[in-house]
Amino acid sequence: MRIVEVKTGTPYQVRIERGLLDSAGQEIMAVLGKTCKAAILSDQTVDALYGARVEASLKASGFDTCRYAIAPGEAHKTLADWQGMLEFLAQQRMTRSDCVVALGGGIPGDMAGFAAACYLRGIRFVQIPTTLLAMVDSSVGGKTGVNLSSGKNQLGAFYQPRLVLCDPDVLSTLPGETLADGVSESIKYGVLGETEVFGWFETADWREHTEELISRCIQAKATVVEADERDTGCRQFLNLGHTFGHAIEKNSNYGITHGHAVAIGMALAARLASQLGLCDPQTLPRLIATLKRNGLPTETAYTASQLTEAALSDKKRTGGTLTLVLPERIGQCRLHEVPVEQLEELMNLSLTDTAE
Ligand SMILES: NC(=O)c1ccc[n+]([C@@H]2O[C@H](COP(=O)([O-])OP(=O)(O)OC[C@H]3O[C@@H](n4cnc5c(N)ncnc54)[C@H](O)[C@@H]3O)[C@@H](O)[C@H]2O)c1
Ligand SMILES: [Zn+2]
Repeated sequence: MRIVEVKTGTPYQVRIERGLLDSAGQEIMAVLGKTCKAAILSDQTVDALYGARVEASLKASGFDTCRYAIAPGEAHKTLADWQGMLEFLAQQRMTRSDCVVALGGGIPGDMAGFAAACYLRGIRFVQIPTTLLAMVDSSVGGKTGVNLSSGKNQLGAFYQPRLVLCDPDVLSTLPGETLADGVSESIKYGVLGETEVFGWFETADWREHTEELISRCIQAKATVVEADERDTGCRQFLNLGHTFGHAIEKNSNYGITHGHAVAIGMALAARLASQLGLCDPQTLPRLIATLKRNGLPTETAYTASQLTEAALSDKKRTGGTLTLVLPERIGQCRLHEVPVEQLEELMNLSLTDTAE
């Protein structure tokens, strides 16, 4: 068992072990101290695959359980679908001494976490992430929420889980494309500082290191989140590839998934850093080759003006400037503040072909 301690306002553990799904009941019991009613909130795909197993484990530990699943996909990360979760919690007469168990990828995780943050002004919740992206990223850090028609994750709350349980065995049923989304976020931690992790994607087989990969990425995220829980300072580094990435997701009407868009976003950030002479010459070719080696895209057909328009409606803009995260080399990035009027010009540079 690998354990990462997340020392936020309310501290919690991320526990990583193969087969953990079947001991979810004991694990949750150990943290909550006594049994209660547990609502397992998921999406229909994950619920069909793993809902019954998690429920059986909780029941075996004495929890009174119920399950609810939304339809899968970003198109369902909406207020209406979220309301469905809340109505379910109310119908089940969940009280503040009860508990929400978020089972699934980043979408049910973000939505169930936000439901737990708001229902009765906050009830306890546990994350059981089932995608690589959710394991290495979204289940930790306390960002919860839903999309509005004006943009992604525009309604939400910072609300930390009591416990995160990662069972790497569940990754075996993930479609390749969805697995690649998590690979993209993992490569991001490599570029930010985890050079050994980057190496597993660059030249080795990361699958031989799955548990260590998850714990190293979560540790990297936890360190940043502990220093800046509310995302006003160094947590911005985690946005590497995300300003461009969100703009691509938005232009594609979310047809391009988050991790794939972030991969393109990282490639664009490296191209820009290279054009501005801010990164060492190996950074761009190494990043592009590593993304491609892992089945991820590195280019977009959207124009600088399309991307700029989408990026400027993104919530991460503050006043007249926008902070980009640019790589200096693999393992080190910098924050680069730019006036919004300059963004289109920079986007153009990032789309310009350079020797890769
Ligand atoms: N809160 C955060 O800090 C944070 C960070 C990064 C991303 N996010 C959010 O996460 C979301 C993306 O997460 P995601 O990629 O996990 O999406 P997701 O939850 O939609 O999962 C992707 C797909 O995989 C399926 N699936 C999940 N686990 C499975 C399994 N084990 N086997 C088979 N199929 C499985 C799902 O049903 C879904 O169709 C985005 O909405 C993004 O905004 C949040
Ligand atoms: Zn992300």
